[in-house]
Amino acid sequence: MSVKFYIPENQVPLEMHKVRVVQKLNLLPVSERMKAIQDAGNNTFLLQNRDIYMDMITDSGVNAMSDKQVAAMNVADDSYAGSETFNRLKAAVREVFGVDNVLPAHQGRAAENILAETFVKPGTFALMNFHFTTTKAHITRLGGEVIELIDKKGLIPQSDDPFKGNFDLKKLRSTIKEKTPDKIAFVRVESGTNLIGGQPVSLENMLAVCDICHEAGIPSVLDASLLQDNIYFMKIREPRCKYMSTQSIYQLLASRFDIIYFSARKLGFSRGGFIISTDRKWTDMMMEFVPLYEGFLTYGGMEVRSIEAAAQGLLESLDMDYISQGPEFIAYLAKELDDYGVPVIKPAGGLGCHLNCSEIVPDIPHDQYPAAAVGAAVFIAGGIRGMERGTMSEQREPDGTERFAELELLRLAVPRRVFTLSQIKYCADRVKWVWDNRKLIGGLRWTQEPRVLRFFFGRMEEIGYWQEELVAKFKKDFGDSL
Ligand SMILES: Cc1ncc(COP(=O)(O)O)c(C=O)c1O
Repeated sequence: MSVKFYIPENQVPLEMHKVRVVQKLNLLPVSERMKAIQDAGNNTFLLQNRDIYMDMITDSGVNAMSDKQVAAMNVADDSYAGSETFNRLKAAVREVFGVDNVLPAHQGRAAENILAETFVKPGTFALMNFHFTTTKAHITRLGGEVIELIDKKGLIPQSDDPFKGNFDLKKLRSTIKEKTPDKIAFVRVESGTNLIGGQPVSLENMLAVCDICHEAGIPSVLDASLLQDNIYFMKIREPRCKYMSTQSIYQLLASRFDIIYFSARKLGFSRGGFIISTDRKWTDMMMEFVPLYEGFLTYGGMEVRSIEAAAQGLLESLDMDYISQGPEFIAYLAKELDDYGVPVIKPAGGLGCHLNCSEIVPDIPHDQYPAAAVGAAVFIAGGIRGMERGTMSEQREPDGTERFAELELLRLAVPRRVFTLSQIKYCADRVKWVWDNRKLIGGLRWTQEPRVLRFFFGRMEEIGYWQEELVAKFKKDFGDSL
């Protein structure tokens, strides 16, 4: 029984684990950091890890494993079909979600592919609180359309609503009526809404969405990739959840949603992806796609060691001592920055701290990619790699016009159980320096722009010479050697 108190706003976060394996980091001098980001086409995805001091691009597949996960990996049963490893995974899913029907996929987006192949037909609609990049790409690839129905508070950076990922239930009802239920492939709730700052959805809102879907005969789907953070927020922000166990929340959700899928790179501190369902009928509908795209039903394209780690990791996702660590470090970083005046998304969510770049560099227009520009500046300032979550992460309209993002964010992800508090403080310090010198930051333009998922491998260059000016200012403030 742990005696830790979970009030992130008022205390220094306390890790309920110790570090026993370490990895050496490298911190390049500032001129070399500028060269590295320019060589990477100002796209943080194209940086080399050896050039990075703090890798805050994602929380996906980079969470630290526990001693128990590493131990579990050593007893993996490596058979093509019917492995004991998969049985152990099923037992963990039963323990956490109370569900028996499990399909494996090699990662979250592969699960999305199977879901889309099963339900999306040309001319159908997928309703969701907010899209995720890969989710949307799979739906539109098959001729479906994504409709976002997030409550408007979710898109107001200054709103301190505790559940900014909530659906607008009125709009959900009217959209179902307008589009008609037979044209709706499914309704998807994304827990811990990724692209708007890891913002949670309340239990009440999730259950209301399930009720509406049930009434209309539309499949309800939960993307549970960020559910562990979401459950932490339910426990500390939603009165009805305070005295519920984490397990009872997972199980209540599983009993109400038709289908739950997740990336085990996040939920499970491992790799891979899974699709689960209380009712066998949904599993049967999706099953045939698993051997077609992934691999046999008991490994789904995953290495069995990762399945063992996911099974143990899922059990750890029940433990508030573990699931509090990420959100509490993020809350600490967000508060440090907010107190200094740096615009961040509030309240702090899961996944990472999100800088509101529209306010940091208000003069850089959407089509000069303000969030990517701030991302390059943060890398130059500290060797810190964030991820653009703004217009660069959008896809152009079919006619080639830019689709401007609702929010221009730079995400500084906090992988779970990875960083020390002094590294988080270093990050805050360098972001404050970028804020102090924000007037020097300029825009970016494409030199190579891929048609699909351009944020992964597109390349850009600075407009003018603002990066050289930033480096000169950095040297003036900190000296040549840093
Ligand atoms: C909410 C959400 N859904 C789906 C995915 C896709 O998962 P994966 O990266 O394992 O393909 C992610 C990954 O970041 C995610 O955050």
